[in-house]
Amino acid sequence: MADPRIIDLRSDTVTLPSDAMRRAIAEAPVGDDVFGEDPSVLRLEAMAAERTGKEAAVFVASGTMSNLVAIMSHCDRGDEAIAGSEAHILHYEVAGAAAVAGVQLRAATNDARGRFDIDEVAALVRGQNVHFPRTALLCLENTQNRCGGAVIPVEHVEDLAALAHAHGVRVHIDGARIFNAAVAAGMPVADLAASADSIGFCLSKGLGAPVGSVLCGPAAFIARARKMRKMLGGGMRQAGIIAAAGVYALDHMVDRLADDHDNAQALARGLAELPMIDLDPASVETNIVIFRVRGDWLDFARGLKESGVLASVYGERTLRMVTHYGIGRADVDEALARVRHAAAALA
Ligand SMILES: Cc1ncc(COP(=O)(O)O)c(C=O)c1O
Repeated sequence: MADPRIIDLRSDTVTLPSDAMRRAIAEAPVGDDVFGEDPSVLRLEAMAAERTGKEAAVFVASGTMSNLVAIMSHCDRGDEAIAGSEAHILHYEVAGAAAVAGVQLRAATNDARGRFDIDEVAALVRGQNVHFPRTALLCLENTQNRCGGAVIPVEHVEDLAALAHAHGVRVHIDGARIFNAAVAAGMPVADLAASADSIGFCLSKGLGAPVGSVLCGPAAFIARARKMRKMLGGGMRQAGIIAAAGVYALDHMVDRLADDHDNAQALARGLAELPMIDLDPASVETNIVIFRVRGDWLDFARGLKESGVLASVYGERTLRMVTHYGIGRADVDEALARVRHAAAALA
């Protein structure tokens, strides 16, 4: 192989902090955050609340913790929460809603673009009956990871929130990649999240920070969330060391997500040219490219890995590639050259 570089397209979680972000970490003013005395955490939480248009925010360790704390803060034990059939909460969070929060998840079908059928969601909201759990929460995901990073349009979020609120059901957005959605939609996060009660977003994905997510919502909800975070062992002390990376990320890493989206588009167009790949580049709206492989897909996946192009296997015949801060256009071109080579080796 002429160019042995690893091109890691498994996820935007593999991003490494830049030198400038590392300097921000090194210089962060810190204090004991459980006492509410860490200036960097307080700054990050204020920025997050402002960006999402919510009253308050709490810094948590991960996107998974953000979702679990949100579920624990919105629901009582024995309640039910509706989540998309493709939701991260349903597939990849170790059933924390059930195991830790005591909340039953009920799936509403996500279509290929991550959207819901409003009538189906309406039918899933429980009525009054002694046998039923209370439907307490509707969880949305924007962008929708398993639906190829699809942006959920603000009108759809508003329609779902109106339905939920009419039944006394709260709405949480898993906004792990909400800044990707905002950049792609050309709309502030606060607008995308306005009709939801709470939203969490990740700093450690496309925004390039090493750790952390922020959960945002009304002040009383965040006060409860702070207790739930503590209960889960998530009360961190001089957490400004990591929050400073988040402050830097919100200041410097949001607008550049457009480059990741352009690179994902270039990647998708190149992949779609190959007969063994089933992909419509128009379906790629942000930084996630999910495609199906015709023919000998396991050998194809093995060939890719051996060539130093890392992708995630997303299911039978299905691979995912994600562009991020560590991937430039030259990496996309090189990855495509290696993909063509792997495909030709099988032909
Ligand atoms: C949509 C979505 N929500 C939540 C998470 C969980 O984030 P974390 O890995 O920080 O727990 C992820 C992670 O990939 C995600 O894609």
